[in-house]
Amino acid sequence: MTAARMSWTEHPHADAEAAQAALARALVEACREAIAERGHAYLALAGGRTPLPAYRRMATADLDWARVLAVPTDERCVAHDHPASNLRALREAFAPAAPRWLSLVPEDGDAGRAAAHARAAMAAHRLPFDAVVLGMGADAHTASLFPGAAGLGRALDPAGGEDAVRIDPDPLPPEAPFPRISLTAARLLRARSWHLLVAGDDKRRALLAADAARDPRRYPIAAFLHAPGAQLHVHSAP
Ligand code: 6PG
Repeated sequence: MTAARMSWTEHPHADAEAAQAALARALVEACREAIAERGHAYLALAGGRTPLPAYRRMATADLDWARVLAVPTDERCVAHDHPASNLRALREAFAPAAPRWLSLVPEDGDAGRAAAHARAAMAAHRLPFDAVVLGMGADAHTASLFPGAAGLGRALDPAGGEDAVRIDPDPLPPEAPFPRISLTAARLLRARSWHLLVAGDDKRRALLAADAARDPRRYPIAAFLHAPGAQLHVHSAP
């Protein structure tokens, strides 16, 4: 059963595995359709732990992977082979499938050059995303759009002109204390479909609080819950 809301739809599942399978199916479907209609598929994919099993499932699909281009929704400013690298985690989850990857940070992870690197990478790939997978923290941050971060207002502006910004979360998250490069809300909203996997009570509470407060500065995920014309699919599990 699905429950339709203003601009998000919840797809409740019995367990995390079922939610992951549903997300994987939706992504494969979006890629097949994009490849059939336009010859290629373009994905923006959240890092973090929650969606990795869905990506591993998706990677077993029979897709023309050379026609799939993917970019992380956000990256920590660390080298591409660093254990905390979102790109590294995504690449590993997708092996043995080999989509093409765009990175928001230079190979050595240098934070000083990262914003310019990301903007150049995104300027070379301006098409709308065929699917966006958002992540979400218990503080309702999404991508690396953290509540309280300097520059957040600009990064959340749905009419903003920038594709990617540097975000220095304040405080830095203890599990990954690095500056970040994040795609902006405006860039993430230029897409054909949006997905979020939510498992556990703390994440669900954050989602419902964001839905009720409608204040993206406090709950950045809200920028995607109430975006006109965008339908966010929330694949949820207890
Ligand atoms: C990061 C992620 C971040 C993540 C959320 C959820 O670099 O930390 O991009 O935005 O998606 O924090 O992470 P979990 O899925 O691990 O809870």
